[in-house]
Order: sequence, then C-alpha cells, then structure tokens
Amino acid sequence: MVAGRANDIKPFIVMDVLEKACELECQGENIVHLEVGEPDFDTPDCVKAAVIQAIEEGFTHYTHSLGLLELREAICDYYAHSYEVNLDPEQVLVTSGSSPAIFMLFAGLLEAGDQVIISDPHYACYPNFIRFVQGEPVMVPVFEDDGFQYRPEEIQKKIAPKTRAIFINSPSNPTGTLLSEKRMQAIAQFEPYIVSDEIYHGLVYKGKAHSILEYTDRAFVFNGFSKLFAMTGLRLGYLIAPLEFIRPIQKIHQNFFISANATVQKAGIAALKDAGDDVARMKATYDKRRRFTIKRLREMGFGIKVEPTGAFYVFANAKHLSNDSYTLAFDILQNAHVGVAPGIDFGSNGEGYLRFSYANSIENIAEGMQRLETYIKSL
Ligand SMILES: Cc1ncc(COP(=O)(O)O)c(C=O)c1O
Repeated sequence: MVAGRANDIKPFIVMDVLEKACELECQGENIVHLEVGEPDFDTPDCVKAAVIQAIEEGFTHYTHSLGLLELREAICDYYAHSYEVNLDPEQVLVTSGSSPAIFMLFAGLLEAGDQVIISDPHYACYPNFIRFVQGEPVMVPVFEDDGFQYRPEEIQKKIAPKTRAIFINSPSNPTGTLLSEKRMQAIAQFEPYIVSDEIYHGLVYKGKAHSILEYTDRAFVFNGFSKLFAMTGLRLGYLIAPLEFIRPIQKIHQNFFISANATVQKAGIAALKDAGDDVARMKATYDKRRRFTIKRLREMGFGIKVEPTGAFYVFANAKHLSNDSYTLAFDILQNAHVGVAPGIDFGSNGEGYLRFSYANSIENIAEGMQRLETYIKSL
C-alpha cells in the first residue's frame, strides 16, 4: 500500500496542464506554452563552457556537503554586492536546485503541528513541503488591489504560539509583484523566523528587490540559478541560514543528498562571475515581453490592477470569464491551444485568476494572445 504522505500530496496542476499540452502536441497540435515557469533562453555560453571544462578535468566526484567553498564565497560576494549584506560562507549550503533546500529547511525547522504563515496565492509547492514534514501552512490572503502584497497587520493576526516562520517570496510566483521595502521591514520585526524565497531576484524591471537579510538575521533565504541564469535543468540552488541551523541541515543533506552536482557547482561560479551580460540581455527581453503581455491581456478585458514588475508572470483576473480557473485553463488549452496556469493551483484565493508566463518568445506570446482573443470572442 502507498504511504499516506505520498497519497495525500497534491499534484502540481501546472505540470498536469503541461502534460496535457504535450499529449495534444503528440497528436500533431501546435500549442503555445504560457503555463510553465521556465526561462526559454539557452543557458549562457560561459556556464556551458564551465560544465564542459569541469567534466574534461574530471571534476565529477562528490564535493563537500555544504558545497564548494569557492561557490559559497561567490554567493557571499553576490549578496554583499547586491544588498550590502555580509555573510559567512559557513552560512551557505549548496543544493541541487532551491527545491531540496526548501524541503530540508522545513525538515530542520518544524516539529509536528508547527505553523508557517504563507500568502494566498503562493507558489504551489510551498504548503506541500510544509505538510510533508507534518507542519501546518497558515494562509494570509493577499489581494490584487495592493499588488498581492502582504499586509503586515493581517500577518500579525495569524501569529500564534505555534508559528515558527513567516514565508515571503518577492518577486512572487504567481503574481510577479514585489513586496515594498516598508512592508518587508515591518514583517522583519515580527517574532517568528522569516523564510524568504529570493529565486526571482535579479528579474526586476522597475524598482529594486530587497533581501530580507538587509533587515534581520533571524531569516532563512532560498535562492538558485534556475531562473536568473536559465539553468533549470542543471539543478543548482542554495540555502542561507543562521549558523546554528547549518550543521543540523547539513546532516540532513549528507544523509539524503550527499552533495550537489560537482560540475554544476563549477558552472554556478561561472554564472555569478561571468554571466552579467547574458543576464542583462535576458532581462531586457523579458521586460519587452512583460509590457506586451500586460497590454494584450488588458485589451482582452483581463483585470491587472497593479502591473507586475518582477519574475516572468502576469496573474490576471479572469473572473469575467469564469470562477472555475481549473476548467477554464483546460478549456483554453483544448480549444485555443494555449497553455495557461489556473489560479487555483496557487491557493484558494487565486481562484478566478490565470497565470501567464512570458518566458516565451514575443512571436509565440503574440500568437497565444491572438488565439486567446479568438477563443474569448467565441464564448
Ligand atoms: C517561487 C519558486 N521557488 C522555488 C522554485 C524551485 O526552483 P528550483 O528548484 O529550480 O531552484 C520555483 C520554481 O518554479 C519557484 O517558482
């Protein structure tokens, strides 16, 4: 019999949309993919060259379980340079993508029944990580009127004796919006630890993303190379934690994962040191697509009260079309041949919205919008 914890875990619906889209593609249909949160850009040449060089030099063995010191130092330099935050490389644990870091942090932080405050909507997997280690996600709704930002007073109301952490994600998946510096400062004052997913840092088109570490040391940060450096398949991420948490989490890492991929760690060093021009090019292209996507969606009647200025998502209000985003997303896929992510995947407060990813070429986005417009007119 399958264990309850495996049976009970919720599917990642956007992957279900993608898999259905692939099924249609196998039947010969042409699908425009606006559902997946994955850069369409090729991985920068300097990163590829570093992987190849590492393999040629036989750099294919286990590394230190915390990660290569040179990479951890480069991560500290990146935080010093970007946020004027001074970190010790001993506070950094390198992982195969940020996902294992999220898993290990909650395994290391939560006792059964401990609560973690998360925004609703949120990245679909967050509650599943928390529940998997018997924690309890506590939702704080966020609303499009103020750009889906947390209202600190709403967080305050949910803080209870069992609250171990408050989870923030700015720029956010699925909303693409940023938490203001003022609100972040207010949240940093709360008693529980702050857990900050900073994976979309660097992909900010207006204003500036702030690291939670600028405001408090009682914080855990996840970050990774998947989004900013278009390295999703290479699997590289990291956790920054207060020193006293590193050894326990390192032991979890040693037991369950041993170390991150050695060659890819070398590529991470190259990304941080040499991929600045590539990042600037990708960012400028995302920004053009962002403005185009917002404009076209608004022309079609989707509600976008506050323009998203980070990551590569637009979380658009589709309540004029349906209040059942799951059915709507599959209907759009089936009839318009456009993949979109249903808002319900990101929490009950995301119901009635659709998430559009603009990590696709402007030509494909234009085609997707055209198909969507024809579909809407046919309703
Ligand atoms: C907010 C957020 N956090 C974490 C991840 C996981 O990224 P990875 O494991 O590739 O680092 C994703 C991926 O979509 C994400 O959107």
